[in-house]
Amino acid sequence: MPKITFAANGQSFDVPAGQSYLEFCQSHRVPQDFGCTVGSCGTCRVVLVAGADNVDPITDEERETVEMCTDEKGVRLGCQLVIRGDVTLRAAE
Ligand code: FES
Repeated sequence: MPKITFAANGQSFDVPAGQSYLEFCQSHRVPQDFGCTVGSCGTCRVVLVAGADNVDPITDEERETVEMCTDEKGVRLGCQLVIRGDVTLRAAE
């Protein structure tokens, strides 16, 4: 079962493969900010510190939103992440 680890505090959680990060946060009351939940506002920006290949690839629409919001490398939208394997993430700057 894939594991989500939060770099800020080292906490890890097992998640079913294919679960969205949004669903995970809602069911575990993770203090992750979300806005639109459809990839257009950029509120949910996170950085995959490890396991970037263990989520679904970024789409053109997600990339557009990220590029409108930040120049930071490795940023993904939390509401668009589907967890396929172990990941470690942190909040974007
Ligand atoms: S919540 Fe709006 S882009 Fe993720």
